[in-house]
Formats: sequence, structure tokens, C-alpha cells
Amino acid sequence: MELQQFQAKTPLKHLAFIMDGNGRWAKKRLLPRSMGHKAGVKRIKEIIDSCFFDYGIKAVSLFTFSTENWNRPPEEIQTLFQLLQDFFKTNIQEFKEKGIRIFVSGDLKDQRIPADVLETISEAIDETKAGDSHYFNVLFNYGGRKELVKVCKEISVDVLNGKISIPDINENLISEHLYFSKLPDIDLLIRTSGEERLSNCLLYECAYAEFVFTPCYWPDFTLKELSSCLEQYQSRSRRFGAIKND
Ligand code: IPE
Ligand code: IPE
Ligand code: MG
Repeated sequence: MELQQFQAKTPLKHLAFIMDGNGRWAKKRLLPRSMGHKAGVKRIKEIIDSCFFDYGIKAVSLFTFSTENWNRPPEEIQTLFQLLQDFFKTNIQEFKEKGIRIFVSGDLKDQRIPADVLETISEAIDETKAGDSHYFNVLFNYGGRKELVKVCKEISVDVLNGKISIPDINENLISEHLYFSKLPDIDLLIRTSGEERLSNCLLYECAYAEFVFTPCYWPDFTLKELSSCLEQYQSRSRRFGAIKND
């Protein structure tokens, strides 16, 4: 489908991925889980490039590490962090050239995050901050509930300081306090690996999102798979509570 046609039919401004199934992909091949993560990270670049440049999607969010993933063995966590750093370091220059701005959403104040990981993250954010053609939002140490707690705390402080009063609290204000207040709500969330749950991902932002679940493990997620997920999205009728004759 032509880009213009694609966006005109059912506009898609913000697409989120829960990349899942790296471990099972590896297990199926009798490989260690780390190899699954490695293979998974290899898929990211082509997929987001296609979202941005083939389908004209302005913003893509990718769930890379949840607040619950700290429950995994330390070696696996370390592998995930290393792969994230390698990903940023390898691609930052190209992102910059293509006008892709990186956002990282999550609790970056968490003391458990190693200093060098934080350094790579802030470098990636800083190096690409002038980008305005597309937004790549990396959900890292992200939890939807934790995000809402942060929003509550920040708004409470503003109320206590007299900056705002209770009647000023509305949906827009809440959105402004989310990690990525500059990005629109999620239009479509794709989760790979056959799991059909949110796992604490973007609870507020997905209020009216469409969901596509595919059995495909993330390392097997090809452009063809992406196209088939986007086709499903195109066939949905988004009504937002209203009535549409389609
Ligand atoms: C997703 O793959 C990657 C992260 C959670 C970072 P998993 O590691 O969850 O893979 P499965 O679900 O165990 O197969
Ligand atoms: C969600 O996947 C987190 C990320 C993809 C980063 P998980 O594999 O951690 O989710 P559960 O444990 O199956 O719900
Ligand atoms: Mg998983």
C-alpha cells in the first residue's frame, strides 16, 4: 500500500511494540537465552526504519526492559543492558542523520541502573535531540503503574506549592506528566510471541489503542509480519465511543 494511502485510511501516528519471545526463540534452537536477545536486537533497526520510512509513522515506542524484568537473573539483565548500549552506539549517527530523535521513557533514577548504561542513554538522547522527522521512544526500566505514581507525586507537589489547584487536574495535565508528554497516545500496540497481555506497558497511553497479537517470536518478526500486523490495523474501525457507519 502506498504511504499516503496507508496513512489516510486509518491514521497511525504512534505505534508501540512489546518485543517478546526472545527466550523461547533461543530455547527452540537449544541456544542460551542471551542468543535470543542478540537475535532480537538485530531485528529492531529494520523494523523501525520501515515503520518510519515505508509507512510514515511519526513515533515508535519499543518495550525493552520492564520494571518487572529486574526479577530475571543478573547475567541476563547484564546482557540486555549491554545489547541496548551496543544498539545505541551502533545506530546513533544514522539516527542523527535521518532526523530520528530518541526518547527514553522509564525510571532512570533507579540506583540499580549501571552508570555506563545511563551515560550511553543520555548521550543518545542528547546527540539526537535536534531530530524532528521521527521519534523513537525506548521504554527502559519502564512500568505503567510506576509512571502513574510519578504523575501523582509530581502533581501533588505542584498542588502543595500552590502552582495549581485541584480543579486544574485534568486528563491533559496528567498527559503532561507522563514520561513522554511530547508524543501522542498509542494508536496501535503490537505484541509478538503469542502472549496476549500488556505486562504493565503504557497503561494510560493505550486507553484507545488497537491491539495486534502475533504468535511470531520477536527474532522472527520480519517486514512481512509487520505488514500483516499493519493490515489488520487498517481493517479496524476506530470509533472512540461514537457511531460510525462502516
Ligand atoms: C523479550 O523476550 C525481551 C525482554 C523482555 C527484554 P523474553 O526474554 O521475554 O522472551 P520469552 O518471553 O522468555 O520467550
Ligand atoms: C514484557 O515482556 C517486557 C518487555 C518486552 C520488555 P515479559 O516477557 O517480561 O512479560 P511477561 O513476564 O511475559 O508478562
Ligand atoms: Mg517474555
